[in-house]
Amino acid sequence: MSLLIKNGRVITATDDYFADVFVEGDTIKQIGKELAVKADHTIDAAGKLVIPGGIDPHTHMDMPFGGTTSSDDFDTGTVAAAFGGTTTIIDFAIQQKGRSTLEGLDTWHKKAEGKATIDYAFHMIVTDMPDERLPEMRRLADDGVTSYKLFMAYPGVLYVDDGTLYRAFRQAGENGTRISMHAENGIVIDEIVKAAVRDKKLSPMWHAKTRPTRMEAEGVHRAIAIAEVAQVPLYIVHLSSADALEQVKLGRMRGVDVQAETCPQYLFLDESMYLKDGYDGFEGAKWVMTPALREKWNQDVLWQGLKMHHLHAVATDHCPFCFNGNWKPGDKTPERPGKELGRESFTKIPNGAPGVENRMALMYHGGVVEGRISLNRFVELTSTSAAKTFGLFPKKGTIAVGSDADIVIFDPNRTETISVKNDRTHHMRADFSAYEGFTVKGYPDTVISRGRVIVDKGSKKTSGGGRFVKRARAGELLR
Ligand code: URP
Ligand code: ZN
Ligand code: ZN
Repeated sequence: MSLLIKNGRVITATDDYFADVFVEGDTIKQIGKELAVKADHTIDAAGKLVIPGGIDPHTHMDMPFGGTTSSDDFDTGTVAAAFGGTTTIIDFAIQQKGRSTLEGLDTWHKKAEGKATIDYAFHMIVTDMPDERLPEMRRLADDGVTSYKLFMAYPGVLYVDDGTLYRAFRQAGENGTRISMHAENGIVIDEIVKAAVRDKKLSPMWHAKTRPTRMEAEGVHRAIAIAEVAQVPLYIVHLSSADALEQVKLGRMRGVDVQAETCPQYLFLDESMYLKDGYDGFEGAKWVMTPALREKWNQDVLWQGLKMHHLHAVATDHCPFCFNGNWKPGDKTPERPGKELGRESFTKIPNGAPGVENRMALMYHGGVVEGRISLNRFVELTSTSAAKTFGLFPKKGTIAVGSDADIVIFDPNRTETISVKNDRTHHMRADFSAYEGFTVKGYPDTVISRGRVIVDKGSKKTSGGGRFVKRARAGELLR
């Protein structure tokens, strides 16, 4: 099958020009002015932007967490991603404590295989790493899993101690791979949480009040120091505050190879969401995520960090739970309970929110339309940078001859109001939108994954067909 995209304005992280793009099979074969080629299908992209498919390097599909499982699986979640202009996700496989990481990877392959509509890769969440397991990390890298996520947060669940961090960091560095870090001092936060619970401070707002930005900054500082000594490239996930960003800047000034992502929720939402229906209301549970939403002034600092290249990518940390999960009192086999698990205490609210579908439109609107970042930087932050950092470039993350034909035809003039009720903006399996009522200018019209048109003018064309992508090691190219 072949496809000709005519008359579009091609935008990459570095270029901006008018051209036709000719795709044959999975791959971009020619780019040029008025290409004289015959194609099975032709799309007229006049007046549209032709950009690389979005890459979201941080999603949690079908993830057991917080006493339930995230509500999108690799079917619904990747269809929603496609509608939003994302053509590759990097999700997280989880090692069960005391078990093999390879077994964990196998479990996640089974969850995704045959279900995903867009391409996917995995980071490996490491929950323990005794010496005898260290060789597994090389096997994972050989199998295309070239980054590991470790947690300083969630004691008793995903948390690992500094010794484990150091051992895993050393091994990852020796293997030429990268560490992703959830950087927050979970031990201290747990003490603050216990005190709040003792004082009967149990509503969703207390999720934010018990997680000071200083504890995020401390985690970032510690992760950078350990990575520096262990000599491994580091990537801080879901950075949420000015305090934490300051530590990234300091580390980079010292010459440490540390990058960081932030997420739309920290750029567009703030801690006032927890007070939607008052101090003791429960609606704020929709935005209980970790790190928590911050005071509003942090948003400007994060946008500035994106513009000035102190932050490197925008991911979603898509980890949806319904506000009213399909669980009712008395159900024997609750299927994916949701936020209601924490009605009595914020400590029981499953952490995470939906967003994989909203990232590209929000970043275009808040970034480009509102004048905070350039069009090239928008592409870099939503696609190219993650491709380079996580071993997908130049196969993915750009529009170039030989690259996968992962392409979004983006209408810069289409206006949409994001809403759970808008069937053009909400395909995620969540009974609310984190960005309810946000109006955006600019929206993906046609989404192409390896030459297949999967969304055309806002309608789904096909499901399935997504493939696992084996990623290259840090600093290596994927061809
Ligand atoms: O609240 C969040 N972020 N849930 C997903 C797990 C994580 O920490 O990334
Ligand atoms: Zn995390
Ligand atoms: Zn996450």
